[in-house]
Amino acid sequence: MLICRDLPSLRTATAALRAAGKRLALVPTMGALHDGHLALVAAGRQAADAVVTSIFVNPLQFNPNEDLSRYPRDEEGDLAKLRSARCDLVWMPPVEAMYPPGSATVIEVAGPTHGWEGDARPGHFRGVATVCCKLFLQCQADVAVFGEKDWQQLQVVTRMATDLDIPIGILPVATVREADGLAMSSRNRFLSPEDRATAPVLLRVMTQAAAAIAAGSDVAAALGEGVQALRDHGFAPDYLALVEAETLKSLTARRVDGPMRLVAAARLGTVRLLDNVPVD
Ligand code: PAJ
Repeated sequence: MLICRDLPSLRTATAALRAAGKRLALVPTMGALHDGHLALVAAGRQAADAVVTSIFVNPLQFNPNEDLSRYPRDEEGDLAKLRSARCDLVWMPPVEAMYPPGSATVIEVAGPTHGWEGDARPGHFRGVATVCCKLFLQCQADVAVFGEKDWQQLQVVTRMATDLDIPIGILPVATVREADGLAMSSRNRFLSPEDRATAPVLLRVMTQAAAAIAAGSDVAAALGEGVQALRDHGFAPDYLALVEAETLKSLTARRVDGPMRLVAAARLGTVRLLDNVPVD
């Protein structure tokens, strides 16, 4: 497994892979890797001949009241996991390589950035879109693999790649969960034992609300009951919403002309949990 820490060596390595006729899959991550990330690597291996995983804790997507320095880092552990997942190349640039002094360009996506995480974390998707655009252009992979866990992010990068005519396919991968249903996340380690025991209630409540809506229940009533159930279990819900799957536009009634998604963010103690489920 090759490790590149500067752009010229990344360019040389990816050019050699392409010259050997290999299709490349890129898996963008911020490290602290868990089985959710490794499922993306596995999907990349299926979709292409070589996998490039990037590890970069992107300062641009953290806003000032979020603690960038608290983001978990484990370079040794991450590299060991990527080796066992048979990743071919790891792109881990220092911040100065990604944003050299004088950097002045950002990518601003409208549409699916509006609402939900876009409201909760001002500037977050500008940072995500900018770094993903740079990663796509740096690696020139054929496909980029993203988790459905971050549903809104998946729609934002898909929109950005389409709008900017970046020749890359976006490959979504289903959310990987713990045995009790909690979506894997690097933030789960910050849950107290009690909160960790409560955390799977989020998926249970969302699954119930999704089933009720699919069965024809009033949307506002189903969402209201879901929010109340979360509060009863000690969550502080930020939102629980029914949205158009690709645009993230809020829906007050079931749509019949395309896919829907239930999206939620809820705080448990100091940890903000995110999840989403399809509504059939
Ligand atoms: P990070 O949180 O490290 O996640 C990297 C990728 O792993 C994302 O596509 C995310 O959706 C996916 N992922 C995380 N947990 C998952 C799970 N339980 N199941 C399936 N996929 C999961 O998301 C980011 O980093 C950053 O915003 C990034 C895209 C790298 C840009 O900086």
